[in-house]
Amino acid sequence: MFTATARYYDALYAERDFEGEAHAVLELAGRHVPEPRSLLDAACATGGHLVHFARRLGAGAVVGFDLDPALVGLAQAKLPDVRIERADLASFELGRRFDVVTCLYGSIAYAVTPERLRAAVGCLARHLAPGGVLALDPFWMRAEDVAPLNVRHVVRGRLQIARLGRAVVRDGVAELEIHYLVGEQPVEPGAPPRIEHLAELHRCGVFSRADHEDALRAAGLEVHHEPRGPVGRGLFLGVAPR
Ligand SMILES: C[S@@+](CC[C@H](N)C(=O)[O-])C[C@H]1O[C@@H](n2cnc3c(N)ncnc32)[C@H](O)[C@@H]1O
Repeated sequence: MFTATARYYDALYAERDFEGEAHAVLELAGRHVPEPRSLLDAACATGGHLVHFARRLGAGAVVGFDLDPALVGLAQAKLPDVRIERADLASFELGRRFDVVTCLYGSIAYAVTPERLRAAVGCLARHLAPGGVLALDPFWMRAEDVAPLNVRHVVRGRLQIARLGRAVVRDGVAELEIHYLVGEQPVEPGAPPRIEHLAELHRCGVFSRADHEDALRAAGLEVHHEPRGPVGRGLFLGVAPR
């Protein structure tokens, strides 16, 4: 899904405030676990949040995983002292429990179906220590919020990236076709710039607030909802029994 464009992930999201997002999540989760000593970041991509979680908690206290092997490789190169695995949200088993488990920036939508949402939330919840907190940052929660066309232009160092996404919602699933035109200026003066066209298909479940809350309750967690969250889409918090 992200493999072809993994090496552009950090350039595409260079404007995001990963540090601010990570601190906001720790602050909100910290209302339930005041001094977390361990954290798992599920669907961590290139480790943008993990860098800051590791600074706060220590490299040995944090773990990340992602389904995409190219993203896992980039995250591991960025964080050589952090355990980063390749795993699937809906079926992973890391053999360890955590005070905080995060799944950020809409990654939970990649569970796609309500059945897999429940499986994923169940798996995430099973990795919580007693009294631990699961923080779920949702993606689109209503079909009408899915923009049919979405365009961005990013300039970063020698790279220029134009990204155009087309989305269609069918039966509660947003099918995203994303095209990237990547231009790269040459290192050597006078050499021609490189241009590459890449395309990706993503499938994301459009899960409602009730879908998220039902899945958290079914996993045995006490549900809280923070209206703003790290990126303004709200944050679901599920607290495990002690
Ligand atoms: C929108 S990105 C967000 C990544 C990261 N949390 C962030 O804040 O930038 C979604 C991530 O979910 C990952 N992903 C998609 N399906 C997955 C699955 N079934 N299991 C684990 N990770 C998955 C993708 O590879 C990608 O890294």
